Amino acid sequence: MAENVQVAAFENYKAREGLTPNQIVHIFSTVAEIYEETWKTKNYKDPEILSDEVSDYFRGTETSSVRILDVGAGTGMVAEQLRKRGFIDIDGLDPSSGMRQEAMKKKVYKQYYLEFMDGHHIDSIATDTYDCVVAAGCFNMGLLPCAALTEIARLVKPGGLVCFAVFDHNFSAVPEYNNRLGPLMSRMEKEGVWDLFDKKRRTDSDMTGAVETVFRYTIKASEIDALPLLAGFPANGSSIKIYNSNSICN
Ligand SMILES: C[S@@+](CC[C@H](N)C(=O)[O-])C[C@H]1O[C@@H](n2cnc3c(N)ncnc32)[C@H](O)[C@@H]1O
Repeated sequence: MAENVQVAAFENYKAREGLTPNQIVHIFSTVAEIYEETWKTKNYKDPEILSDEVSDYFRGTETSSVRILDVGAGTGMVAEQLRKRGFIDIDGLDPSSGMRQEAMKKKVYKQYYLEFMDGHHIDSIATDTYDCVVAAGCFNMGLLPCAALTEIARLVKPGGLVCFAVFDHNFSAVPEYNNRLGPLMSRMEKEGVWDLFDKKRRTDSDMTGAVETVFRYTIKASEIDALPLLAGFPANGSSIKIYNSNSICN
């Protein structure tokens, strides 16, 4: 891919359509050094917004004891915000080696897994490891597929928190999510995997003023069978699949 195509696909979500997960991740690695500058110019606020929600959920708990996994951790913007709120036991997970390299300069993560969160079983992380999974800026074109939610649920202890935001238009505009992400979130509730703790709509997550909803789910059961949860969603002619993008090539 030519360099200018990569930068275009970094900023223009539509240009990511049809790219493979590895191609997308390669784009993030290529632009890792300018990622923060670019997103701060866009007044991107999700790292702060989600960190406030995490902090609120664990009010009254000793923050140093809360184990957090930051999914799609990128350059560590979320971990920086979590640390400002007293959390110190934070791991990151992201398949982009370039983003990881930038994040590691900050020394905000205990571990940083170079992995896709895409529904495949992440062998290096045991079930019920975390009190909280947070994912900022991750539900967009070419990023986390729907199936990621079942693996995220596996990693969080019962009573723990999953916190993420989705632009409202992405539920239908992103082909992977159209008629799939919303129904899967509801099915996970119906099947006793998680309970909706709350959801908040906001327009201040970036300078576009687009509406996004911040979701907080409380995990009820992490020993889940992902296959029935993912079965039979009729979207764009295919069911939700468990991806297998184990081979990191970035
Ligand atoms: C828009 S950035 C958000 C980074 C960070 N959370 C933030 O708020 O600044 C999206 C990140 O998701 C990562 N990513 C893409 N696909 C992923 C996947 N399947 N699992 C985990 N991370 C993924 C990219 O490498 C990129 O670092």
